[in-house]
Amino acid sequence: MALAPELFGTVSRNLRDGGMLESSGWHRLVIEKPFGYDYPSAERLNEEIRLVFKEEEVFRIDHYLGKEMVQNIEVIRFANAFFEPLWNKNHIANVQITLAETVGVEERGAYYNKSGALRDMVQNHMLQMLTMIAMEPPSRLDAEHIRDEKVKALRSIRPFEADEGVRSRIVRGQYSDGSARGKALKGYRNEDSVDPTSVTETFFAARVLVDNFRWAGVPFYVRTGKRLPVKSTEIVIEFKNVPNNVLFANKQDLNPNLLVIRVNPMEGIYIKINAKKPGNDMTIQPVAMEFCQSCQIGINTPEAYERLIFDAARGDHTYFTRWDELAVAWKLIDPIASAWHEDSSDLTFYPAGSWGPEEADKLLAADGFHWWPVNGQEEDNVVWVSNSGK
Ligand code: BG6
Repeated sequence: MALAPELFGTVSRNLRDGGMLESSGWHRLVIEKPFGYDYPSAERLNEEIRLVFKEEEVFRIDHYLGKEMVQNIEVIRFANAFFEPLWNKNHIANVQITLAETVGVEERGAYYNKSGALRDMVQNHMLQMLTMIAMEPPSRLDAEHIRDEKVKALRSIRPFEADEGVRSRIVRGQYSDGSARGKALKGYRNEDSVDPTSVTETFFAARVLVDNFRWAGVPFYVRTGKRLPVKSTEIVIEFKNVPNNVLFANKQDLNPNLLVIRVNPMEGIYIKINAKKPGNDMTIQPVAMEFCQSCQIGINTPEAYERLIFDAARGDHTYFTRWDELAVAWKLIDPIASAWHEDSSDLTFYPAGSWGPEEADKLLAADGFHWWPVNGQEEDNVVWVSNSGK
């Protein structure tokens, strides 16, 4: 069902009433997002569907879970002795998740104006990626054990409430007239089928806190936006600095180690480390060790939807959203949406083709961090060497 959510219940009932579920074979219902508009509407939809289908027959798609590099997070984390012992508050300074898009709202104004970035991207794709980074290792690699851990991680996210967090830990923005690569771009309010007074957000950034033993005190910065300068989804894990020692105490050029997971459109991972610059001086330079998956010629990885539909046909739920997972996600989102609904004075504007409102930079600056450049972004003052030159 890639349909308006209001139709999920009716279509499910008609499938049953039309006798299509009477065969003795298996029945699987694959549902495209959005699954509801908020927690109460999602719950209603779920109840209607569940009158006809059992939970194990329902496959709720989040296509980010079908992406090669999102699935790879588990392997990178749990199959590498380099990372597993370091994956916690003792060694990680912060996590940055960027999902930048160059497209605007295109012809989807009617849908987007009601959903905004919060419901279109954060409730699903952003939270899914954050969860994969934050979750505890499952004790078995099967769908239920993995999803149990994901639900636990989601439940550990500190809620955003109107009087705590919505204003201080979230930035929302909307693109105004701007330009990219010499082309003038319309502001959101000037797009066709968008209300010229709309306060819908096309940009979202937040400082997310995961209140558990592993992550206490480690900020997860997430941002997503339309009409940004590049199309790029990346996850950056920034490690804490080594303890100052005699050798490096005064080295201004000592950079933190980064592990970068490139999700889209470039796929791969790289690690940024400090190494000595060749020559007579003890100068340190950041260098990258890189695995570029999408640079390899001849690999044919399935598209996210191909992979997910194949999994649904096999009956594998691992990369589909379970109801309780979805419910927790909506419960995190709803207080933000209602605080915004009450008062839109915090909406900021950014020119189309820019990196979003500067308030998003301040979220990190307040903690002494900054956004690391993502693939394709001009790297002001950041020099690093990688053999592939990408
Ligand atoms: C969809 C959103 O779920 O994801 C779109 O509805 C968005 O607004 C898209 O453009 C982004 O997906 P991808 O795979 O191109 O990063």
